[in-house]
Amino acid sequence: MKMYSILLVLCMTSYSLSASSTLDGTCVNPTTLSFIENSLTNISDQLKGSSCSSDGATSEGLTGLLQLALVKELAKDYKDKSCDKEERRLLKSINASITNKIQSLQSQVSSLSSDLNKLSQLLAKHVNVTLDDLSSPLLSSCDAILSKWPNSPSGYYNLADVNGHSRHVYCHMETLCGKGGGWRRIASLNMTDPNEKCPTQFRTYGVSACGRPVTNSGSCVGITFPSRDIKYSQVCGKVIGYQVGRTNGAAAHHDSKVIYSAYIDGISLTHGNPRKHIWSLISGYSGIAFSGCPCGSNNPKSVPSFVGSHYYCEAGNHNTAASYTTLYSSDPLWDGKGCGSTETTCCQRTLIPWFYRSFGYSTTDNIEMRLCCDQETSDENISFGQYEIYVK
Ligand SMILES: *[C@@H]1O[C@H](CO)[C@@H](O)[C@H](O)[C@H]1NC(C)=O
Ligand SMILES: *[C@@H]1O[C@H](CO)[C@@H](O)[C@H](O)[C@H]1NC(C)=O
Ligand SMILES: *[C@@H]1O[C@H](CO)[C@@H](O)[C@H](O)[C@H]1NC(C)=O
Ligand SMILES: *[C@@H]1O[C@H](CO)[C@@H](O)[C@H](O)[C@H]1NC(C)=O
Ligand SMILES: *[C@@H]1O[C@H](CO)[C@@H](O)[C@H](O)[C@H]1NC(C)=O
Repeated sequence: MKMYSILLVLCMTSYSLSASSTLDGTCVNPTTLSFIENSLTNISDQLKGSSCSSDGATSEGLTGLLQLALVKELAKDYKDKSCDKEERRLLKSINASITNKIQSLQSQVSSLSSDLNKLSQLLAKHVNVTLDDLSSPLLSSCDAILSKWPNSPSGYYNLADVNGHSRHVYCHMETLCGKGGGWRRIASLNMTDPNEKCPTQFRTYGVSACGRPVTNSGSCVGITFPSRDIKYSQVCGKVIGYQVGRTNGAAAHHDSKVIYSAYIDGISLTHGNPRKHIWSLISGYSGIAFSGCPCGSNNPKSVPSFVGSHYYCEAGNHNTAASYTTLYSSDPLWDGKGCGSTETTCCQRTLIPWFYRSFGYSTTDNIEMRLCCDQETSDENISFGQYEIYVK
């Protein structure tokens, strides 16, 4: 009966009781036969009542096994009783066919059990992965999330900072700066959205831009974007701004060209303390005459060596002279568009409006964005209307 219960587990729904029809019962104790038949019928009923799907081969194997059980009973009976030669021969042939069936059943069962073995390994593995996912510490970057689950959408995720604290962050999972997805957003502003306001350090310029508070000298006003103690080694960002008044690029009249100073009229992105340069976004004077840009063709002005080629420089003014009081909103800065005749190369940059830096080391430095002009606000201003800064 042990075998029956094993086979019940295998879930058969149909089988034929061929054994009973091949035996005539001549040499069999009728009580024994009746008991066997009864058991078989009961098992058969149970099998029919099960909802599992049937498998022809194994169903046949089951029939064979039932036949064996029957023959075992018959053979036991046969020893006790005397049967004639013809009956012995018949029984032998039945026994032979049953033996074949048993062998095939055994191979089916063993292949089934190896399948079950594989299945249970697979299941165990799956369960382990699932448990891992639930119990392992948080991942420490958007990039790691994307590597582990490549189809993760952009959105908010929890990351572990370097101290193991959970941080709720926005992950941008689509490609940015040509360097794949898995970027963590550390700053964003979109002043064309009427609900957005300038960060408190800045004054609102026009209706949708932010710039320096009034001052009668050169100045920088900055905002810090916290790293939240999560490591990164690359920065991808975009800042869209406007020329206001008579900005003159990298000309820097009144200040020494060190990273702490207003070394440009524009926006300086740095990380850490002491500041390390990431990118400079420079506001030129004119797109068709002197621009004050290093990339300008009319009397170009150079940037300090710590900037190198890590800058964008454009002018919003397309007259030869700039007005003290105009916010040049029709040609936004650092979008790579609308470059005038003396600044054409300034727009010919691969990723513009996006800028990209890879440090070659990882850091948890905060990123600082400083808006600088080397002269007073009555002469020149810069304003920005949008920024998005991502790290990974
Ligand atoms: C078959 O099932 C019936 C009804 O459940 C039960 O009375 C009978 O004892 C069973 N017979 C055997 C041989 O198990
Ligand atoms: C049935 O076959 C098995 C295996 O071939 C054998 O061991 C057994 O003695 C046979 N029984 C009868 C009654 O012939
Ligand atoms: C599942 O995890 C347990 C405990 O860590 C380990 O013993 C078992 O081998 C793992 N199973 C698989 C299939 O990796
Ligand atoms: C900024 O906001 C405006 C208005 O909500 C929207 O149309 C525009 O796509 C946004 N720009 C960016 C870069 O998110
Ligand atoms: C610069 O901005 C300040 C503050 O909004 C303003 O008073 C000043 O007139 C602006 N300068 C120019 C040249 O537009």
